[in-house]
Amino acid sequence: MAQILDGKKLATTMQAKMQTEVAAIKEKDGTVPGLVVILVGEDPASQIYVRNKEVAASKMGIYSKVDRRPETITEAELLALIEKYNQDEQFHGILVQLPLPAHIDEEKVILAIDPKKDVDGFHPLNIGRLFTGDPVMIPCTPYGIMKLLAAYDISVAGKNAVVIGRSNIVGKPMAHLLLQENATVTIAHSKTQNLPEIAKKADILVAAVGVGHLVDESYVKEGAVVIDVGMNRDANNKLIGDVDFEAVKPMADFITPVPGGVGPMTITMLLYQTIKAYRLQKS
Ligand code: GUN
Repeated sequence: MAQILDGKKLATTMQAKMQTEVAAIKEKDGTVPGLVVILVGEDPASQIYVRNKEVAASKMGIYSKVDRRPETITEAELLALIEKYNQDEQFHGILVQLPLPAHIDEEKVILAIDPKKDVDGFHPLNIGRLFTGDPVMIPCTPYGIMKLLAAYDISVAGKNAVVIGRSNIVGKPMAHLLLQENATVTIAHSKTQNLPEIAKKADILVAAVGVGHLVDESYVKEGAVVIDVGMNRDANNKLIGDVDFEAVKPMADFITPVPGGVGPMTITMLLYQTIKAYRLQKS
């Protein structure tokens, strides 16, 4: 029976440590790390994510501001707003909550963020540094997964890792972080043939596809480490992962639950990187 990778517990431990770090920074510098979250429109899921970020930031003593803008904001106005925060020394991290309304080009928005303040790690400069093996700002979800593996002493070097999903936010950076730790990495996606067969070769399987309970026992090798990034709603509006937890748990060595696995780590890494950005900008 698999051991649970308890992201909630690790997030609590890390957040307590970060709270102490922020207090020490305040004592020494008389200032604290600052994070601004720009939220455009009324997407209900985004509202919840942003609220959670705000609560966690204030718990840690990080100065945070949510700048809410209407759905009707123009691209030019949003770019000008980002430039304002690029220049504002109170804020060491800038996060623009995605998705954005269809009339705004996400790529342009990401490019406008000063790479030093890009706590999401989405700017092409930060992605490039990750791909060349010299990362600075790292996308928070895959970064949190690496911290979770490390906390449970799960070695990655030489292992077969299969990442299902190739998004810029999770799948691609996840694959590169695993590669950097010397895993042999396969990226699978919606066009992959024989997906269960490929997934079954994984010592470390990361599911980041957004299809509820896709990964069942036919996808998992005995003794695998199974990481579930999925946040899907079932017919009863219950939060479910990409992994059929009950079906997979008896075969895996380690498994993340949903909720309480990857999710709490993502927010923690965002604030971790806000502190990192503060240090980089102060030095
Ligand atoms: N929307 C969903 N996840 C994320 C994330 O990690 N960062 C941003 N900026 N938007 C998101």
